[in-house]
Amino acid sequence: MVLYSVRGGGLVVAASLGLFSAFFPYPSHASCQVDWVFGKECYTVKDRLIKQMELWSSDQCSAKQQCRYKYEGEKGDTILGSHTTPVLSFVDNLNFTLTDVSSGTCKVKAFSESGASYAVIDFGGNYCNLRNLVIGSKLDENDEKYKENSTNSVCTMYSIAHCNLYT
Ligand SMILES: *[C@@H]1O[C@H](CO)[C@@H](O)[C@H](O)[C@H]1NC(C)=O
Ligand SMILES: *[C@@H]1O[C@H](CO)[C@@H](O)[C@H](O)[C@H]1NC(C)=O
Repeated sequence: MVLYSVRGGGLVVAASLGLFSAFFPYPSHASCQVDWVFGKECYTVKDRLIKQMELWSSDQCSAKQQCRYKYEGEKGDTILGSHTTPVLSFVDNLNFTLTDVSSGTCKVKAFSESGASYAVIDFGGNYCNLRNLVIGSKLDENDEKYKENSTNSVCTMYSIAHCNLYT
């Protein structure tokens, strides 16, 4: 049994679990995990991500401007933050865990999780929460070691997200 209904603008999907996973390739709760590699020291990566969250912390969202990010400190090697979704004001939690793998190479595990408990579809919002910070801080530019990887099974709508729609 599959049931779709719209509640508060979010899409709710209830289904018998076997059938559900057979055709629904995403996490059961809207969320995203992405791995990045940068040809930089982790302290540089960390500095840029934090600065980008602070730069985009305004409550005033003008067109074409990212906004409503919040830097929420650090826990060990993990940067904590949040992003409030523009339309419905759910607070998505995000974090980046940084690991120096060798001199000048930093591996990052990033997570974003929807604050709306019933959300299963996010139109790529959780992925874009993370990717926009990386691209906005130009961490991808002139970096021969730059690599991003994820899959639909750990990142809602990864393969079809167009983050430029959210910028
Ligand atoms: C990062 O976020 C994920 C998903 O919300 C969570 O499972 C994980 O515990 C968080 N990591 C830290 C260090 O807070
Ligand atoms: C990225 O690729 C590595 C190596 O294949 C894999 O172990 C890891 O799970 C992938 N990360 C994601 C978020 O899919």
